[in-house]
Amino acid sequence: MGSEHTPLFIPVVLGSIRRNRRSYRPAGLLAERVAAAGHHTELIDLRELNLPMYDEEAVTEAHPGVKHLRGALARADASVWLSPEYNHSFTSAVKNAIDFVDEELRRKPVGVCGLAGSAVGGARCVEQLKLVLIELHAVTIRDSVYFGEARTIFDEDGTLLRPEFIRRIDLMLRELTWYARALRWGREHIPLPKRRQLPRPADGSLGGR
Ligand SMILES: Cc1cc2nc3c(=O)[nH]c(=O)nc-3n(C[C@H](O)[C@H](O)[C@H](O)COP(=O)(O)O)c2cc1C
Repeated sequence: MGSEHTPLFIPVVLGSIRRNRRSYRPAGLLAERVAAAGHHTELIDLRELNLPMYDEEAVTEAHPGVKHLRGALARADASVWLSPEYNHSFTSAVKNAIDFVDEELRRKPVGVCGLAGSAVGGARCVEQLKLVLIELHAVTIRDSVYFGEARTIFDEDGTLLRPEFIRRIDLMLRELTWYARALRWGREHIPLPKRRQLPRPADGSLGGR
């Protein structure tokens, strides 16, 4: 078991695939703060991965972007997801990425962050994304960072104009790393409950995955 000082691997998933996404710099800042806390990180940029739509076909499953996503999340102790708010929810790119993963996120903590142009934006997409991640047995933590009024956070050159975000991110990461260590210990030491303890339905179906 690692000590409380062992570096963790905490990738940051960037959930906007628009060419001129505002989320790019906040995602970079999230990764920067993970590294500043002494952990390993990687920006998992869904635009770069260029994932196909999930359809369970062999050719899709073999896509290099899909393999990369799954590999990075499988190695991760925790992850941070940043999605902009689109129509009061998270992006379809994020949902498509989630549909490709399962065990990679199981019993690992996730910090869920939102971004929006408006002051109130981001919270709705964060709440919805947490609900979805729970289905994969991911452990979404309470703390999130809401990049509201996204236009005001960085200038055109990438200079951070609102340094209060550093403190907000660091607070979230402190929570996230506590859960990451606790859950890693739990996965390594506590037998997992059996996934299906009920008999299969009489119709022979799996009754959901
Ligand atoms: C399709 C679409 C839907 C949007 N819906 C919302 C919304 O429901 N609430 C909100 O506050 N902002 C909304 N916005 C504004 C975005 O949050 C804002 O443009 C943000 O910069 C998008 O993130 P991105 O630049 O990283 O893609 C929407 C933007 C787009 C493109």
